[in-house]
Amino acid sequence: RRLYQVLAIETSCDDTSVAWLDHNPRSQRCHVLQNAKVTLDSVAQGGIVPTQAHEHHQGQLASLVKQVTTTVRDSYGSGRPDLICVTRGPGMMGSLSVGLNVAKGLSVAWDVPFIGVNHMLGHLLVPRLNDKDVQWPFVSLLVSGGHCILVRSTSVFDHTILEESIDIAAGDALDKCGREIGLRGIMIGKELDRYTQDVLDPWKEDSVVDDIKLPNPLTGTKKHKLGFSFAAFITSVKEFIKLHPIETLTAEQHKLLAARIEDAILEHIVTKIGHVVEGSPELFKECRSLVCSGGVSANSKLRLKLEKRFSSIFSKFHYPPLDLCTDNAVMIGWAGIEMYDECNHHIASDLDVLPLRK
Ligand code: KG4
Ligand code: ZN
Repeated sequence: RRLYQVLAIETSCDDTSVAWLDHNPRSQRCHVLQNAKVTLDSVAQGGIVPTQAHEHHQGQLASLVKQVTTTVRDSYGSGRPDLICVTRGPGMMGSLSVGLNVAKGLSVAWDVPFIGVNHMLGHLLVPRLNDKDVQWPFVSLLVSGGHCILVRSTSVFDHTILEESIDIAAGDALDKCGREIGLRGIMIGKELDRYTQDVLDPWKEDSVVDDIKLPNPLTGTKKHKLGFSFAAFITSVKEFIKLHPIETLTAEQHKLLAARIEDAILEHIVTKIGHVVEGSPELFKECRSLVCSGGVSANSKLRLKLEKRFSSIFSKFHYPPLDLCTDNAVMIGWAGIEMYDECNHHIASDLDVLPLRK
């Protein structure tokens, strides 16, 4: 099997992303030659508006494809790939359809196959792109603004969800709680991480901060198995603020409060993973690696907690580079490559394939 070129497109949410990968199936070496992204700025709206995201992709995708293919052609010779990989879902229908339709059109025009790739599969497989130590079976904790999910993977096509959030994602909770206590920025979870960096003990006694009743949801024996849950953290922060408006706190109390909220949210993640491990230890027996990816995986306190709690279960902890963790076309290209190779190149989507919302 010879070297092949892949054009990858991802438009499931608000990032228009196009990548070019050069893959050698024999050596399993894959080079990312291009990784381009145009992000819709949704900060002013306070969130993503589906119609705006749809319009954004319509305006950006074709020229981004042109930019990538032209650069590849000028630098490496050919601007025509052997395979096109595109996100099929889950995501917003309008956004997905822009990427899928462009991929279909290019597939017809160039007479090359295309593969519709599951977005979550992209997140799960991309750590294997440049870390050959991530071997089957492995466990992934995907923690971002949109996901909080624990998955056990045994092969390219075999993934079991061990735990997922029943409401919002961990990053979303960090962002919303941070905003409630007055932090501002594009990524409040990241601000919160930075702000609390020098707090040694988040649970240090304080007559005011002690009034916050932070939960650790679904950890009672009966609700043990239900999943992660983060919505209650926001409620408890709101209730505390009603009692103690932010401007009445000293600077030290404010920081202690921030650190305590952050710690409680991260502790919830680790507690719930602990329950899964205790409940089904056999699932983890052969898994040497824990991959932690997504925006929240940048948090050093989360990394520390995971390594402290699960060092007897996993011998390796992997944190893929953040530009591969956030939504990007490289992960779609790589997941498509793993599927393509696994099927000895006998896999392609039909031209009538539709986007999948879920
Ligand atoms: O994977 P990501 O960049 O994008 C999507 O979710 O689409 O994740 C973004 C999330 C945000 O909620 C952000 O606040 C959070 O990851 N985040 C962090 C840190 N950096 C980003 N949360 C905690 N600590 C960080 N250092
Ligand atoms: Zn994603």
